[in-house]
Amino acid sequence: MASPADVLARTGGKSIRHIVYSAADIAARVEEMGREITDHYPEGEDLLVLGLLKGSFIFVADLVRTIHRPLHVDFLGAASYGSGTVSSGDVKLVYDPAATLADRHVLLVEDIIDSGNTINRLIPLLKERGPRSIELCALLHKHIAKELAAEARWVGFDAPREFLIGYGLDHSENYRHLPFIASL
Ligand code: IMP
Ligand code: MG
Repeated sequence: MASPADVLARTGGKSIRHIVYSAADIAARVEEMGREITDHYPEGEDLLVLGLLKGSFIFVADLVRTIHRPLHVDFLGAASYGSGTVSSGDVKLVYDPAATLADRHVLLVEDIIDSGNTINRLIPLLKERGPRSIELCALLHKHIAKELAAEARWVGFDAPREFLIGYGLDHSENYRHLPFIASL
């Protein structure tokens, strides 16, 4: 458990509203998701876990260690341009994975689905590369998006519609290193 003093040490004295998911909550849920993902994919077929940078870096690291089958890991970087806190519709690939997607099962891993803009832009782009299947796994889902190009098959938590930080999630690049998820 993170003590108040420990939280302040990590944030540099900035207080957070409240912890929404503790490190233990997250670990337990990630373990369950890993089990379901392990069971979902047929034996002997290639699985590529594709993490969406930067927000998913901790989630991917934890998730792949709970998946009991062979897999490869790669990352993809997307950026949406516009004002700081509201996602604009314009999503651009800033890092394109070296891995080929053709004929492989691709599991796209997102930290959080908010407006859905990122997913709506990326899914068609990745589908063009001819993956055998493409599924979406999101740690958090705010269920705000009206239309999603693909619904997430695995969701860690149905998140409150608050601005969340920690466990990879940032606010102006701060707080990604917090081991829990908090409301700012
Ligand atoms: P979307 O394109 O609006 O679905 O947003 C996706 C991206 O916005 C996520 O991958 C995050 O990087 C960022 N984001 C959305 N909501 C939050 C939040 O509550 N905290 C931190 N980042 C967020
Ligand atoms: Mg972000």
